[in-house]
Amino acid sequence: MKKTLILVLLLTGCATPGAVTQKPDPKQVDEMRATAKTLAMQLGGKLKAEMEANGPAAAVGVCKKIAPQIAADLSKQTGWKVGRVGTRVRNAETGTPDAWNAKALAEFSQRMKQGEKPDAMELAEVVAEPSGKYLRYAKAIAVQPLCLTCHGSPKDIPEGVKARLQAEYPMDKATGYSLGELRGAVVVKRPL
Ligand code: HEC
Repeated sequence: MKKTLILVLLLTGCATPGAVTQKPDPKQVDEMRATAKTLAMQLGGKLKAEMEANGPAAAVGVCKKIAPQIAADLSKQTGWKVGRVGTRVRNAETGTPDAWNAKALAEFSQRMKQGEKPDAMELAEVVAEPSGKYLRYAKAIAVQPLCLTCHGSPKDIPEGVKARLQAEYPMDKATGYSLGELRGAVVVKRPL
């Protein structure tokens, strides 16, 4: 009886999408962590500067142009796939998590429920996909005060920003967040 249970647990463990038992190389994870940090810092810096200089409604347009640009530049520099995904998305094309990213977000959300702080929360795994083996990395992003202007509940979002979001992202799902909530993750995918 006990043996059967263990076997079932083992089998269901192996059925997790694509995960393999190979341990990620800590040095490679360090490099991916640094890349994720660069993306977050470059984007955060640009966003803040633009909001201070021209106001949040103008910053929506900047974010639309700059966010994909920073991700594309870092992807080109490293040869890896670098980006951001959301628990709910504004830009469905770039921000929708695939199976592994969705698993990472679900895990982060669970860990936050158990009281872990999102600041240093990350996940790194070697994953086998049809096109080959990859090292996958995700770093949790929590909602800070600044984010509420464009991702908060209707009362937090100025009218000008609402109009701009409606025009640029008619299918926007990335509002209604509260402070400290899990917003998404910076993600890096590196071929092995
Ligand atoms: C000035 C408005 C504005 C502010 C402030 C802002 N965002 Fe965004 N956010 C956007 C826009 C616009 C997009 C879509 C960008 C694109 O088209 O690639 C976006 C997309 C995202 C995404 C990618 C997933 C998706 O939904 O497409 C994440 C993650 C994200 N924002 C997190 C944050 C966090 C965390 C903060 C606070 C540090 C923040 N944002 C502050 C406007 C903003």
